[in-house]
Amino acid sequence: MSTSAPACSIPLPESTIPEAELIARATAARAALGDRLVILGHHYQKHEVIGFADITGDSFLLARRGAEATQADLVVFLGVYFMAEAADILSQPHQRVILPDLGAGCHLAECADIFTVNDAWQQITAQFTDRIIVPLTYMNSGADLKAFVGRNGGAVCTSGNAERAFRWAREQGDMVFFFPDEHLGRNTACRLGMQPDAPVVWDPRKPELGGITADALAASEIVLWKGFCNVHTGFTVRQIDDARAAHPGLTVIVHPECPRPVVEAADEDGSTEYIIRRLDELPPGSAVAIGTDWNLVDRLRIQHPDKTVFCLNEHLCPCVTMNRITLPKLTWILESLAAGEVPNVVKVDDDMARDARLALDRMLAL
Ligand code: 13P
Ligand code: SF4
Repeated sequence: MSTSAPACSIPLPESTIPEAELIARATAARAALGDRLVILGHHYQKHEVIGFADITGDSFLLARRGAEATQADLVVFLGVYFMAEAADILSQPHQRVILPDLGAGCHLAECADIFTVNDAWQQITAQFTDRIIVPLTYMNSGADLKAFVGRNGGAVCTSGNAERAFRWAREQGDMVFFFPDEHLGRNTACRLGMQPDAPVVWDPRKPELGGITADALAASEIVLWKGFCNVHTGFTVRQIDDARAAHPGLTVIVHPECPRPVVEAADEDGSTEYIIRRLDELPPGSAVAIGTDWNLVDRLRIQHPDKTVFCLNEHLCPCVTMNRITLPKLTWILESLAAGEVPNVVKVDDDMARDARLALDRMLAL
């Protein structure tokens, strides 16, 4: 059964209250909860909520630090559904994970579902009874896909450890089957020294072998799923060329969910945590164009007044699902928790969580 985000009921009354009042109410509720609560926040969250996070990070760091925060029995996740699921899978039995809007999904995660991935797996393994095929899933995937990977000897990876995870997977077997992000997969294969066209791409809409010929599949060491993030595929080489022309000496840093030509045209690529670190390291006076979600880029611009920081695509549509976590919803959640109610709990089925945990633990051990 799929674990994609169910619909949510939005707390309408709070939406009309002035921001200053909401901040005061959320702060009071948060203080009343004390050590019982830990708030985890992904770097793409809106400015109005990220200040409430006790721990901020990329998906890898949040998965690790969330699991360590065992003093709290309540974990509020400021992020998207797959991240809250991962936090629940790694949580202690006494902990509950809460997502302020259960409709905060992820376009990329929705590009793969258990039925089509399982069908692809059956077709691939039937072709090669003499080979060991290792499934790898990106963190941006449903708990059911993480469980599938755990059951079949594979691991989870994030943009922060994809290279290590691919190396590990290649040591375990003859072929890596990676989903759901084609671009992160190709960029990682290139980091391992492969040519961009060396991995084959499985298109779940094609009826047979994902549109790959049997010969091409047999010759391949890496099979990528045809999935993508609608935010990061909004960046282009043309934008990089234009930005370089306008800002001589510009440094361009993009997220590895961007298509390969964009990563090649950039100076550097890395996870959100990497991008933040690089902004700290670059000298004052630097001009930096960043290819990732707008909320993070805007925060970096504010935090580095000694540098010229801008988004590679100023007309980029932000990650709309990350933006579903708003101050009114956070206030509603915190006040509900302080009043003894626990709404919007993200709970992964026990059997699924056990198998998914295998895949997450293999990642954490990398
Ligand atoms: P990071 O793991 O780099 O934080 O990325 C998560 C994500 O959703 C990027 O779009
Ligand atoms: Fe998903 Fe893309 Fe949003 Fe990241 S930016 S959460 S991959 S839709």
